[in-house]
Amino acid sequence: MTMGSKAGVAVEAVRLTKRFGPRTAVEGLSFTARRGDVVGLLGANGAGKTTTIRLLTAVLAPTSGQFAVDGYPSTHPMEIRRRVGVLPESAGYPGHQTGRDYLCYHARLFGLARPDAVRAATRLLTEVGLADRALSRIRTYSRGMRQRLGIARALVNDPAVVFLDEPTLGLDPAGQRQVLALVRDIALRRGTTVILSTHTLPEVEEVCTSVLILDRGRLVLSGTVGDLTDAVVPRSGLLRVPVDLVGRARDALAGIAGLGVAADEQRDVLRISLTGEPDGRWGRETSLNDALHAVLGAGVPVLSFAVDGSRLSDAFLAMTREGGR
Ligand SMILES: Nc1ncnc2c1ncn2[C@@H]1O[C@H](COP(=O)(O)OP(=O)(O)O)[C@@H](O)[C@H]1O
Ligand SMILES: [Mg+2]
Repeated sequence: MTMGSKAGVAVEAVRLTKRFGPRTAVEGLSFTARRGDVVGLLGANGAGKTTTIRLLTAVLAPTSGQFAVDGYPSTHPMEIRRRVGVLPESAGYPGHQTGRDYLCYHARLFGLARPDAVRAATRLLTEVGLADRALSRIRTYSRGMRQRLGIARALVNDPAVVFLDEPTLGLDPAGQRQVLALVRDIALRRGTTVILSTHTLPEVEEVCTSVLILDRGRLVLSGTVGDLTDAVVPRSGLLRVPVDLVGRARDALAGIAGLGVAADEQRDVLRISLTGEPDGRWGRETSLNDALHAVLGAGVPVLSFAVDGSRLSDAFLAMTREGGR
């Protein structure tokens, strides 16, 4: 199969797998990211986020499967490295250098002549909000400033795809906000595809257009953030019916497998909940909608029906056994 030639596709992976000896770090990962997408790579520690990034940036060779970045297949690692930018998991910085010298040096590595490299460094420092610290030594930078400098470095070759490995890890809330705002900017203003790994949900919901949820190397859920939020099956809810028809509603609900019904303090309210485990095929299991249909089908008017909150976090917690860690 030929990969990577499809218009608008920035990253495509097909059954990408990486084993380290007996341990499988990434197993059969397939997905597509489009230009300008901000893809959240979400998973607990050890889920395979860093390995995925190292595969897609041609640092590691896959054990099996294939991928393409900006139209170049995995068989052309040099071309891929020229077209990606990376903020690694734990980047070291030369504390004695100024931010501008550091970026200048990296711009020169990508072949820019000195005056062009200085111009590029100055522009990038402005882009990441470090213009006023351009001539300070990096050792005087806060952790958040270093992360933003690292993101500037990842942009030095004007990459088609930028990979940021847990860019907000260890930052205070203000530092996190600055990094996330920068991520949004990079995608919007440059049209660059961003792949961002994280083990926390709020930032996915805040900046990502789509999400890949990894659990022990396997993709357990993927889609746009909006789709996933909608697709999450609510697990419980409160159903209010006319008080004299509560018995009839209960009878109608009794016939549904996988549904629990309990009385509420209010006599006209039934608390209904799904008793089965989510099976990972969202929408195919018994849903609260079945309950609603059964009640209406029995001729009981539904006065109100409030489902308990369904957010991406519910999906994450339900789908990853390590969730919440
Ligand atoms: N170089 C390596 N050698 C052996 N095992 C590794 C190596 N890199 C990662 N792993 C293992 O692969 C799994 C996924 O790791 P990683 O990709 O770092 O996860 P994450 O970034 O989501 O925390 C873990 O079980 C980890 O121990
Ligand atoms: Mg990692």
